[in-house]
Amino acid sequence: MLAAKREVAEAAAALVEPGMRLGLGSGSTALLFVEALGRRVAAGLTLGAVVATSQATENKARDCGIALADMMLADAPTGLDLAIDGADEVDPAFRLVKGGGACLTREKIVAAMAQRVVIIVDGTKMVEKLGRFALPVEVVPFGYAATAARIERTFGVEVVLRGDDAPLVTDNGNYILDIPFGDIADPEMVAARLSEMAGVVEHGLFIGMADEVLIAGEGGLTRRSA
Ligand code: 5RP
Repeated sequence: MLAAKREVAEAAAALVEPGMRLGLGSGSTALLFVEALGRRVAAGLTLGAVVATSQATENKARDCGIALADMMLADAPTGLDLAIDGADEVDPAFRLVKGGGACLTREKIVAAMAQRVVIIVDGTKMVEKLGRFALPVEVVPFGYAATAARIERTFGVEVVLRGDDAPLVTDNGNYILDIPFGDIADPEMVAARLSEMAGVVEHGLFIGMADEVLIAGEGGLTRRSA
């Protein structure tokens, strides 16, 4: 599995061209990509503005010698040439479930900024139907129990607040509710219903965002375009 992640991360780093404005994803595969990119930067590759989708990725990028733009400032970049990120699930229509690392909101903002979004996964992430991986939803802590109850009433599924002894707090200061659908029959409908709910900051369904998927499997690397 690690070898597959490394292979796809190296392939993704090879897609980066000099001067590109880049979005760096989150999760273990994306961090391997950041390491591979760091090696190219150390070898002389120059980049345009680079933005990270989580504190963990920000820390890794800095350790690898990659300079980052500050996305909290008014003059932060508003567009990117390429974003490279992992995913928890990818279906045949390139719809994704993301947020296993609790970074879905920043990941979606960065993907929406990018002209081209490349998703890097090992073959286990390719699924016929989304939903086996519980769908992460980032919610505002205020009234989160009411938001959870609304989600449960809407979909008839019991949600789980992420965290062991205490709620996990995202980089944005929010909580994560995981919805164990098992099978999402209509991802567009679920996405639309969640987006209109009070208290929901963002959900982990990424629909119409991925342009390409790089998949590492036993037979080597596959590249699929939407
Ligand atoms: C983080 C994400 C990750 O991209 C996703 O969880 C995949 O992670 P990994 O590469 O570790 O399997 O969405 O919020």
